[in-house]
Amino acid sequence: MPFDKLGRSLKDLRISVTDRCNLRCSFCMPAGGEYEFFKRDEILSFEEISRFVRIVKRLGVKKVRLTGGEPLLRRSLEKLVEMISQEVEDIAITTNGFLLKEKIKDLFLAGLKRITVSLPSLRDEVFSKIVGKQVKVSQVLEGIYTALELGIPIKVNICVVKGINEGEVMDFIEFFRGLGVEVRFIEFMDVGTLNGWSLEQVFSAEDILKVVSEHYRVYPLERANGETALRFSLEDGYKFGIVASITKPFCGDCNRLRLTADGKLLTCLFASEGFDVKKLLRGGVGDEDIEELVKSVWEQREDRYSEERLEKKDVKKIEMFKIGG
Ligand code: GTP
Ligand code: 5AD
Ligand code: SF4
Ligand code: SF4
Repeated sequence: MPFDKLGRSLKDLRISVTDRCNLRCSFCMPAGGEYEFFKRDEILSFEEISRFVRIVKRLGVKKVRLTGGEPLLRRSLEKLVEMISQEVEDIAITTNGFLLKEKIKDLFLAGLKRITVSLPSLRDEVFSKIVGKQVKVSQVLEGIYTALELGIPIKVNICVVKGINEGEVMDFIEFFRGLGVEVRFIEFMDVGTLNGWSLEQVFSAEDILKVVSEHYRVYPLERANGETALRFSLEDGYKFGIVASITKPFCGDCNRLRLTADGKLLTCLFASEGFDVKKLLRGGVGDEDIEELVKSVWEQREDRYSEERLEKKDVKKIEMFKIGG
């Protein structure tokens, strides 16, 4: 198992299957931006992706998460899930949930184990404002209910931005506690270059805990190695999390590798340059040679952007919708 320069091993592979999305969240793809998407022949095929998973499995990858853009926009995604689930047991998806209701059953039958739904608000008018078009929260909730009926574990992520949705912390806790669904509050991050991020807009882990503590006694839980979220429990056993990438960075044991839809390998969510895996996959390079090259990419890794962000200015970063969180 390879270790990077900071002694971290590889465990978690996140694969973006498309950079397209049916929403335009203001903190990810703000309105007015000029977006260019990959062309069909630029994106990796299911065969190429699953071959890559087979190779990196030998380097320690135990978890695969499919992301986007919006991964459910990729046609026949269940075929990819089926192919990957032959290689790795823990296969999850991060989705905005709009297409979940119609697609979840096939994905589940294909072997999908877990779902994370990104939901920025429980109020139609706030959600619609964030995405710049009329949307209904109920459409996402119906997808969540369908997944729960099938018995698939779900987490819900809310990116909390001051002045937009910070007033909904307790609404999320109460609503999802009722469903037994774990909520994770994500501090607004400076991913990409387009979302006009500023520190003043970050509703911090401390802010969130203050709100919840006004209503309930909150117990911190032990953090598992490599986990993104700080986790907490309420007295009744309900658990929620906070992904505090800004105020409490977790680069120290970051075990994640990311593959973009066009086959670039990135060792950090805030990276600018990727290692071109597609060229190898399409260039007749054998599995063992690819394994060696990926291993050396990991061994040279020294990313810890979230611990250094305040010193780093004007770095070119990949956009969130191209890398998927
Ligand atoms: P599991 O442990 O597999 O459940 O996944 P996870 O908790 O890592 O889930 P998820 O991908 O939903 O991560 C939660 C959110 O944390 C993401 O949507 C990102 O916004 C953020 N995040 C995930 N990975 C990283 C990371 O490596 N660095 C930073 N800074 N943020 C991350
Ligand atoms: N900061 C924090 N989280 C973000 N997400 C998208 N953009 C940002 C941002 N700027 C979240 C989405 C989703 C996941 C993929 O990343 O809400 O949960
Ligand atoms: Fe929103 Fe996710 Fe789409 Fe970005 S990729 S616009 S966060 S739904
Ligand atoms: Fe890992 Fe980079 Fe996120 Fe730090 S900022 S946790 S190194 S992906």
